[in-house]
Amino acid sequence: MDPIFTRVSTRQFVPDRKVESKYIIKILRAAMAAPTAANQQEWEFYVTEDREIITRLSQVTPYSKPAANAPVVIAACYNVNALRVPEMADIDMAIACENILLEAEYLGLGAVMLGIAPFEDRMQKVSEILKMPDNFRAFMIIPVGYPVNKHAQEDRYEPAKIHVV
Ligand SMILES: Cc1cc2nc3c(=O)[nH]c(=O)nc-3n(C[C@H](O)[C@H](O)[C@H](O)COP(=O)(O)O)c2cc1C
Repeated sequence: MDPIFTRVSTRQFVPDRKVESKYIIKILRAAMAAPTAANQQEWEFYVTEDREIITRLSQVTPYSKPAANAPVVIAACYNVNALRVPEMADIDMAIACENILLEAEYLGLGAVMLGIAPFEDRMQKVSEILKMPDNFRAFMIIPVGYPVNKHAQEDRYEPAKIHVV
């Protein structure tokens, strides 16, 4: 099974089923295996199983609700002091987040990206909830857990979108 072709967003998680610590570490190892511009590795990851913090994160936007029933939430953030190529920070972080989704899929877990950056109001709210230092920026919230149900990925391959020149 190739996780790229089986991964789908998971928004319903099996209640009361925790994610094993070894899996969380594996997922974060995958995130930090991602490429970054000039190898700047600006990422910082907050991991929480705290129900109050998770509830508050789930309320950052109307679209963040899927976090509410997740056993664990990862907030992918970055350290502005680590940036050598600031313009590339969002791209770096997006790649790391995709690695999180793919590793979760590989481990039989489910996850979904809940967009935070580049919206300043959302970034500020997450920063306050997690009590982040001033030099950190919130990028993405990713709830992780065991999926309640799993559907097949839609086939989005469209040859018409390939332009051979
Ligand atoms: C940058 C980004 C932000 C997203 N933000 C949200 C979000 O706030 N809430 C949500 O439920 N899904 C969010 N998603 C998930 C997308 O809705 C989902 O990936 C898309 O519908 C395709 O479905 P699939 O992931 O199952 O293939 C986000 C995805 C990306 C890449």
